[in-house]
Amino acid sequence: MNVLIVGSGGREHAIAYKVAQSSRVDRIYCAPGNAGIAEYAELVPISASDYEALADFAVSHQVDLTVIGMDDPLVGGIVDVFESRGLRVFGPRAEAAMLEGSKAFAKDLMKKYSIPTAQYEVFEDKDKAEEYLRTQAKFPIVLKASGLALGKGVLICRDLEEALQGTEEIMGVKKFGSAGDQMVIEEFMTGREVSVLSFVDGKTVKEMASAQDHKRAGDGDTGLNTGGMGNFSPSPFYTKEIQEYCQKHIFQPTVDAMRAEGKEFRGVIFFGLMLTEDGPKVLEYNCRFGDPEAQVVLPRMENDIVDVFEACIDGTLDQIDLKFRDEACVCVVLASDGYPLSYEKGKEIRGLEHFKDRDGYFCFHAGTAFRDGKIVTNGGRVLGITALGENLKEARANAYRAVEWVDFDNKYFRHDIGKAIDEA
Ligand code: AMP
Ligand code: GLY
Repeated sequence: MNVLIVGSGGREHAIAYKVAQSSRVDRIYCAPGNAGIAEYAELVPISASDYEALADFAVSHQVDLTVIGMDDPLVGGIVDVFESRGLRVFGPRAEAAMLEGSKAFAKDLMKKYSIPTAQYEVFEDKDKAEEYLRTQAKFPIVLKASGLALGKGVLICRDLEEALQGTEEIMGVKKFGSAGDQMVIEEFMTGREVSVLSFVDGKTVKEMASAQDHKRAGDGDTGLNTGGMGNFSPSPFYTKEIQEYCQKHIFQPTVDAMRAEGKEFRGVIFFGLMLTEDGPKVLEYNCRFGDPEAQVVLPRMENDIVDVFEACIDGTLDQIDLKFRDEACVCVVLASDGYPLSYEKGKEIRGLEHFKDRDGYFCFHAGTAFRDGKIVTNGGRVLGITALGENLKEARANAYRAVEWVDFDNKYFRHDIGKAIDEA
């Protein structure tokens, strides 16, 4: 088989690594990819937003299966374009990707089908949102731009003043563009956060594994929100009992609700959950693998991932026995100092050879490129240093050891990824 992967981050590197293990695969292409993905795939210089050009490439290169890693093209309808050309593609159609593309849609779906989530209101009018905040809101409160905003469109506001300022940012000056045409105002919840990735074939949902992300830029969860500075899998707080509750009250009901709405979901649903005192509740849905969740979940997966992708497309996921290794996995992101605001690119990365032929250690590239025969930094998040271990503590020690193997100017990382493990 020939497989095309669309995307260019650490998540797509982890997907490429798993696809490369499949005995069924001859050739892998990745558009646009990065310097690390080039180890497994031929890089294709087509933007992930040029759906027609990607479909043309898939036709002309006899691509048998295309896997979409990123949210933007999924929400934008790349799967619909591929399907209309008769191409096999893994990921939800635009109408199903709305689960991530519109928080207003997702909240209304949860309400209609009694899926546990925070109380909320949706606003299209800034004056009405302000009036609600002045007269009915309890603080702290959460404001969310409804559309895609690179994980940055969520504001937690301590008081009315902050909330009015946040409303101005989202709906007034449109800091997140059209993502702020609608705004969700949501009850503030407290508890531990858990991410659960799952495969879905329209009717069956099978969990991969749980993970915990670290979204803030600085140690001790300080600083700005980022795409994710590291994570670990599994989460020790995601017990068997919680898992059973989530299957029954969240995962299956979500998939059934999408089907009932005529928006059958096929692909990956990433459930962002908060374990509150009143039980697990949905924080958000994503319509794709997480980044860096894929980096800690896929190295633990035992199945041939191409079989699983095909089962999701064909509606036969019930026949797949998904298996994950007991070993734990930890990923520490090496970023460019200054991320997520401003940072320099083009710094030479040294020491990548240490990862060659070293079982249980992975260096997933998030933002890298080739320049003059060298590999250089090319983004805010640069590398995802990932290690397996017999348990979380060992995986964490291994990952932090490997962090020292690579170096580049302005290398920045958090020192407390997985610290919560000590409290488990
Ligand atoms: P989201 O992109 O919706 O996952 O939100 C980003 C982050 O904001 C989450 O990972 C939480 O840490 C936080 N967050 C979102 N919604 C809420 C909420 N209702 N209560 C408390 N924290 C929240
Ligand atoms: N790491 C969070 C996400 O991929 O959305």
